[in-house]
Amino acid sequence: MGQGADPAGPRAFRAVYGAAPDGVWAAPGRVNLIGEHTDYNDGFVLPVALPQTCQAAAAPRRDGLLRVHSSGVPGGVVTLTPEQLVPGEPAVEGWAAYPAGVLWALRGAGHQVGGADLHFVSTVPAGAGLSSSAALEVVTALALNELYGLGLGGGALARLCQRAENEFVGVPSGVMDQTAAACCVPGHALFLDTRELSWRQVPLALPAHGLRLLAVDTGVRHALADGAYAERRAACERGAAALGVAALRDVPPDEAQSALERIADRDVRRAVGHVLTENERVRRTVRALDAGDPATVGPLLTASHTSLRDDFRVSCAELDLVVDTALAAGALGARMTGGGFGGSALVLVEEGARERVGEAVSDAFARAGHQPPRVFDVEPGPGARRLV
Ligand code: GLA
Repeated sequence: MGQGADPAGPRAFRAVYGAAPDGVWAAPGRVNLIGEHTDYNDGFVLPVALPQTCQAAAAPRRDGLLRVHSSGVPGGVVTLTPEQLVPGEPAVEGWAAYPAGVLWALRGAGHQVGGADLHFVSTVPAGAGLSSSAALEVVTALALNELYGLGLGGGALARLCQRAENEFVGVPSGVMDQTAAACCVPGHALFLDTRELSWRQVPLALPAHGLRLLAVDTGVRHALADGAYAERRAACERGAAALGVAALRDVPPDEAQSALERIADRDVRRAVGHVLTENERVRRTVRALDAGDPATVGPLLTASHTSLRDDFRVSCAELDLVVDTALAAGALGARMTGGGFGGSALVLVEEGARERVGEAVSDAFARAGHQPPRVFDVEPGPGARRLV
């Protein structure tokens, strides 16, 4: 599919389905500034929307069918009947399970949603830890929300998308990525309380302070990631059970040390230690940003990485190489972002060090025989919205 000037626009939709769409919507990928593996513990996260988006041109259908097509995936249009929109049916495989799951979740929540034709184009790299699947889910949810006049807000759409991912696709993720895609605003990070599903937009005006946030996609896609994610989540649940709390969020910061001493299993103790300290780092990051002092966020990012590497154990050699190299080249802080085991890292640098740090990371990758990393500037973009 040619992308043209208007990638998922009316022309491309017409070429696929032979009619005009009712509209075009977009939802972004995200990087998480800090607050990793805290969302499924009812904790705090601080994601930022990327300029890269998944776009959907869409039109309603009266017959209840869902037809989906992606410019990035060979195989043409996938057609799903209402009978196929049931979790666990083998009928929905691969990427189509995400939009199918969203329609299933909306209907399951009692919303009157008919069928739809959807054509997608995404510029969010898949498998890079930048939430391309949440962007796909949220853009589908927003398009259906507007096509069928459901009037749902961003938080409600995010929860339904999480349900689609958990129960239809079968990935036990938290709610961070979907909420970021649905609710971020330009120039801000989203300080999200994942228990209350309440949030505050925190200004992230890094260039005004002579700073830059870089994302480094290592290109590493570890197959191990899915099973390990579920394992870490289970360790956190065991930790909460051992402490007699509903979620690790319920352990007050000043009781963290005594709580850890009560956990016998070493791996569980380390996982819990990460979550408790990470929630505190999110709060401290927000305080630093509120105080107009973003450079002091650097050491918090690095401490987050150390905790994820040594205690939560979800980093990998390539992510560690980005962090170590960036810090040695003068970065203020660096950490892996997202689920881990590959994907992307974040680096906070002073404007003048951007080139030097980027080159140092690329050189280190070349010396280690890794494929070249992709380094790009993170400029906090808008959340999901209608384009046309
Ligand atoms: C993935 C999940 C999120 C979150 C992060 C780790 O991105 O989809 O819900 O758990 O990992 O912070």
